[in-house]
Amino acid sequence: MEEKGAESGIAAMAACYQRFDPASYLKYNYTPPRADFERKDSIVPWKLACLHRAFTEGDVSGELLVDIGSGPTLYQVLSGCEVFNKVILTDFLEINRQELRRWLRDEGGYNLDWTPYMEYVCKLEGRRPSAWSEKAAKLRKVVKDVLPIDVHCPQPMAPDALPSGGADCLVSSFCLESVSPDLAAFNRALGHIGSLLRPGGHLLLIGALDESYYLGGPGVKIPVVPLNEAQVCASLKERGYTLMRLEVYTLPQDMRVGVDDVTGVFFVKAKKV
Ligand SMILES: C[S@@+](CC[C@H](N)C(=O)[O-])C[C@H]1O[C@@H](n2cnc3c(N)ncnc32)[C@H](O)[C@@H]1O
Repeated sequence: MEEKGAESGIAAMAACYQRFDPASYLKYNYTPPRADFERKDSIVPWKLACLHRAFTEGDVSGELLVDIGSGPTLYQVLSGCEVFNKVILTDFLEINRQELRRWLRDEGGYNLDWTPYMEYVCKLEGRRPSAWSEKAAKLRKVVKDVLPIDVHCPQPMAPDALPSGGADCLVSSFCLESVSPDLAAFNRALGHIGSLLRPGGHLLLIGALDESYYLGGPGVKIPVVPLNEAQVCASLKERGYTLMRLEVYTLPQDMRVGVDDVTGVFFVKAKKV
């Protein structure tokens, strides 16, 4: 009975996502004020700074980085692409995978210009902003594939998608809490993605705090599991990760623009036991 309930909650989430609109989602979350590179308290620069720090501390290394639930966005791998020779992007929806492929193949027709993002990360790396074109070339070189994923499956990717030992690092931003019907499903999903990571590998997890919904397009209200910091820490521990760092960002009032009810964002650096 309990299992049936869990399945129907997950099926309802999958149904919601059929109406997800990448162009609107990008506009809501990845343009000013949320992506204002002149403002230190803007949410996107905060996320980019957390990722930059995590990837340059020296302990996150190896061959393969996998991004879980990439959506139509690339910002989450702009630092990691300098450290890993192979990057795999993943998403549940083909429409998001297509958006990513359009940029990766330099075909045009994609819905967001990632240049200011690359300029900003180049500056964090101590390079000239104009080095963005080198970063774009690097990213296009190291991203080896864009693959389907379902974090609710015990085996979230096709059996031969990754090397048998697993990835050296996972990054995932705003995925698990916004695709899970409840905390139990979030917890399980955190365990499922752990099966893609080698023991001792790192997980960089970014997510929403206290969020109950976000808009995936005009009138497309997608429910989110409202999380607090203690729940995130408990879930990580339960699913076999050692927490190394947790950072929290509180949204300034003018960043609350009516496309969700998020109040804060967490950034976690953890290690698989
Ligand atoms: C809120 S978006 C996050 C996108 C991006 N990572 C970001 O930082 O903005 C959630 C993503 O999860 C994907 N998704 C939906 N159901 C999923 C599932 N069962 N497994 C993995 N990803 C899923 C959606 O297609 C969407 O791209």
